[in-house]
Amino acid sequence: MTTSGTNTQSSSIHGTWSKRWTFILAASGSAVGLGNIWKFPYITGENGGSAFVLIYLVCILAIGIPIMIAETMLGRRGRKSPILSMRDIAINSNASGYWQLVGIMGTLAGIFILSYYSVIAGWALAYIPKLASGEFSGVSGAAAKSIFDGEQGLLSDYKTLLFWHSLFTIVTVYVVARGIQAGLERAVRFLMPALILLLLVLLGYSVMEGAFAEGARFLFAFDASKLSWNSALVALGHAFFTLSLGMGSIMAYGAYMPKEDSIAKTITIIAVLDTGIALIAGLVIFPLVFAHGLEPSAGPGLMFISLPLAFGHITGGELFGTLFFILVAFAAWTSAISLIEPGVAWLIERFGATRRNAALILGGAAWVLGIGTVFSFNIWKEYKLLDTFTIFDGMDFLTSNIMLPLGGLLIALFVGWVMKPEAAEDELNMKNPALLSAWWFLLRYVAPTAVAVVFVMGIYDKFAG
Ligand code: PFF
Repeated sequence: MTTSGTNTQSSSIHGTWSKRWTFILAASGSAVGLGNIWKFPYITGENGGSAFVLIYLVCILAIGIPIMIAETMLGRRGRKSPILSMRDIAINSNASGYWQLVGIMGTLAGIFILSYYSVIAGWALAYIPKLASGEFSGVSGAAAKSIFDGEQGLLSDYKTLLFWHSLFTIVTVYVVARGIQAGLERAVRFLMPALILLLLVLLGYSVMEGAFAEGARFLFAFDASKLSWNSALVALGHAFFTLSLGMGSIMAYGAYMPKEDSIAKTITIIAVLDTGIALIAGLVIFPLVFAHGLEPSAGPGLMFISLPLAFGHITGGELFGTLFFILVAFAAWTSAISLIEPGVAWLIERFGATRRNAALILGGAAWVLGIGTVFSFNIWKEYKLLDTFTIFDGMDFLTSNIMLPLGGLLIALFVGWVMKPEAAEDELNMKNPALLSAWWFLLRYVAPTAVAVVFVMGIYDKFAG
């Protein structure tokens, strides 16, 4: 632990990571989370597989990485919360202070995301005792499904969901309140290798016991007939979600990054790691789904049905399964703390709040909103906004498919066209001129055009198409 309880971080600068590579740990802790293991497989299933995966990969490369570099650079340049960093840098570039609205929208998006993120993380927590007690030993596909969403299943039991949602919110607020360095560094250093190792064990199982060829074909055999603008928007939104982009998390962490570190190199490593973990999760889950006659388009429950099923049939599955859901909960935890860090840093700077109170206020807001998501899986299940969305769907759509892409678009436009290029280049300090030009090109032209087109067409396709 690097921060003691007496350390009040109420100055406008919130400190610097204790070691040079803590940024890598913290940013990959933020990026790798439920998005990789839970969300990527289920939205891939819902959107028909390979064509979706291809668009997602293109979005990561051509849009995600350049914007992630830009966001980190803005954070390190501004050295404050995303809201105030955006304002300061805009004013220094002789532009309007209203650019801080990008930071404000991002800060709100973080609270909205945390509201449902903690509910899903709560599912993972609820699964730890289920696996440990052998509830899934030898079960059939149908039985695994009903443990999750049957009449007596987890989703129908809103009291249990509320309990785990609350517990997860509390531990998130606790870490943020202590200062994000405390404990985070150690947690991530152990977590990431353990998670990858366990995913590889599972991959071995799905190669041997699952319908591996079918699963791999589903993910990688390109089929243009499955393309739609709405799936492209979901893929784009997920590229932002999985890299923690478009809302200031990475900007907030960038503010604590030491000056000498190479931003471009660091970010590329994180993006590759994040994408690799998502692809492995897909390669684990889909072969199991096909081998057990489950539906790839089953939705948010996909991982919570297919993986326990597999664990129920592996020797040592109780142990591995318990460990797996512990690791998923940890991965979610290190992401969740980054969701409210932008808002917390801002409340400290702007209103002189203590870190503890700031974390309590924002965590509390997310907790209250999250109750809507809890109910959307049971007592409010039939209640649909715009005839389409449950509260959970609505929160997810609003954040991943609207707020994050919009935030990302504005960040690309800001760095590409408004900020002084000398300032950006000075902060980036990229040694390779060809890579620097490629970055400018992607950020100025490719990312804004692609995001704008996919955004407009995707929304149209969703509601009018
Ligand atoms: N990147 C996280 C995941 O993939 O689970 C979720 C997330 C964290 C999204 C932080 C956005 C964010 F700012």
